[in-house]
Order: sequence, then C-alpha cells, then structure tokens
Amino acid sequence: MKVAIGCDHGGIKLKPVLIDYLNKKGIEFIDVGCFSEESVDYNDFAEKVCEKVVSGDCDRGILICGTGIGMSIVANKIKGIRCGHCHDVFSAKMTREHNDANVLAFGERVIGPGLMLEIVDAFLNTEFSNGERHIRRVEKIKQLEDRNFK
Ligand code: RB5
Repeated sequence: MKVAIGCDHGGIKLKPVLIDYLNKKGIEFIDVGCFSEESVDYNDFAEKVCEKVVSGDCDRGILICGTGIGMSIVANKIKGIRCGHCHDVFSAKMTREHNDANVLAFGERVIGPGLMLEIVDAFLNTEFSNGERHIRRVEKIKQLEDRNFK
C-alpha cells in the first residue's frame, strides 16, 4: 500500500506523528506538503493528495487541516475521490467498510496524536465490505459524479 499525505498549516504538527507511524509500519508514502507553519490554502494540498490517488500513484490519501472540513469538502469535489471526515475510530472503520473511502480527512484542532493514529490504523487496515447494498450505493455515488444538476 502506498499513501499520499498532505496538510495545511493547521495540520503541520500532526503530520510528523503520522509520518513516524507510516515509517514504523513500513508503509510507503508521498508527502505533498505543506512543510512549514506559513499560512497556505488547504485546497492546494487536498488537491495534490487526491491527484495522487486518482492517478493510481497512491492507493489511499490522508489529509490534515485544522478541522478536516475544508480539505474533505475539496476532496469530495474530485471525481474518483470518496473522502471520509473522521474523528473517531468507528467512523474510520465504517467509511472503509461501507463507503470504500479512498481518502481520510481530520483536524489537528479536533483530535490529538493518539486518537489520530488509531483512526489512521482503522482506515488503512479495513477493507471494503463488498456487500451488495454497499456496492450499489458506492456505484450511485460514482454515477452522481457525472450528473449535471444545472
Ligand atoms: C486554517 O486556518 C483552517 O481554516 C483550515 O486548516 C481548515 O480547518 C479549514 O477547513
């Protein structure tokens, strides 16, 4: 498994903890930035991570901003991305089992490092359930990406 990770200035302190975890687990990753506490637009880093996932360079993406909200909104606008915005382990597990989420977003101003690692662990180690109803619902999400609401 290869993971793309990215943050804005609001997630810059948690990212090293995530990197340490990925290194210890031997999980390959690409860090798209940001790399300092200077204020940046979360949009740009969410896009970079999602590009890696959509292109197939990476299997999953992990996004950290202050709340996880901005990044998850951006990610879910991108065709092929299903981003779970999770601040608890149960949701992280369920967004894999039920939604086949390929990106996870959370906020450094919401959770601490211990809980973050449990959430990441659940996200990376849970498979899509492949249940008939879940496949149908994920297919409906994919069809929605091509619908014109105007
Ligand atoms: C940055 O101040 C903050 O707005 C951002 O990290 C994120 O929380 C947005 O949703």
